[in-house]
Amino acid sequence: MLIFRHIKHMRSQLEPYRKRGQRISFVPTMGNLHGGHMSLIKRAKAQSDIVVCSIFVNSFQFMLTEEWDKYPRTFEADCQRLREIGCDYLFAPNDSEMYPNGLSTQSRVVCPSMTDILCGRSRPGHFEGVTTVVSKLFNIIQPDESVFGLKDFQQISIIRRMVEDMCLPIKIVGGPIYRESDGLAMSSRNVFIRSNERPKVKVLKESLFEVGQSLAEGEKDFYGLEKQASERIEQHGFEVDYISVRNSLTLEEAAIHDQDLIVLGAMYTKSARLIDNFILRLDNIMDNGGEDKK
Ligand code: PAF
Repeated sequence: MLIFRHIKHMRSQLEPYRKRGQRISFVPTMGNLHGGHMSLIKRAKAQSDIVVCSIFVNSFQFMLTEEWDKYPRTFEADCQRLREIGCDYLFAPNDSEMYPNGLSTQSRVVCPSMTDILCGRSRPGHFEGVTTVVSKLFNIIQPDESVFGLKDFQQISIIRRMVEDMCLPIKIVGGPIYRESDGLAMSSRNVFIRSNERPKVKVLKESLFEVGQSLAEGEKDFYGLEKQASERIEQHGFEVDYISVRNSLTLEEAAIHDQDLIVLGAMYTKSARLIDNFILRLDNIMDNGGEDKK
């Protein structure tokens, strides 16, 4: 695997593949790679000729209260995992390469819908940082397709909308959530969970799945289900940010006749913020509704 730190080198390396019409798949990450990331790379490999991964801990998407400098950085181990799985290229720029004019005057990509609800409500500005950096990375790599984990469901929904709004010829592919043996969704942030809380955090997944099961059985009292799940999580000593039943295609609050449902949740432990979701109709949302954007 070749590693590039500079935009112009990365671009010129990929140019010949593009000219030959070979398919480039891209997996953007912030590093501290785990099994979930590896599954995204595998998916990318299965669908393309060349796989590019990026590692960039994007300060622009961290709020002032969030500790960007404490984000786990495991570059050597990440490279090892990427080599083992057969990733072709790694793009790993530093801050000044990605934001040469600084952050305060950086042009931004703003998605006005879906960004101030759910996670966006408690993390104002977060998704603007994500859409800005992802569109920069898309401009650098110019992939045919890009793979994102479905754990960050709001993120992939917003990116799909950005790609559509900005007419980017990129197929956005969703990779299923990878879980630890007790059900906890894999996340780079799991390292922040304190050991005494670790056995209990599976309650987030369990509560969401319980809501999901009730929805699948036809229950329509969304508010009642959300309340019940929140109470269960609070009983385990965690603070609930939100539990919400939504339309998985629009992220709007679920309506009685909606078929495409998702239940999303976020909770705080003493030292971590965890998110998870349960999707009722997975087939509809894995691959842009099945349509190839190219
Ligand atoms: O999901 C992530 O790791 C990040 O939000 C992303 C997409 C790499 C953008 O920085």
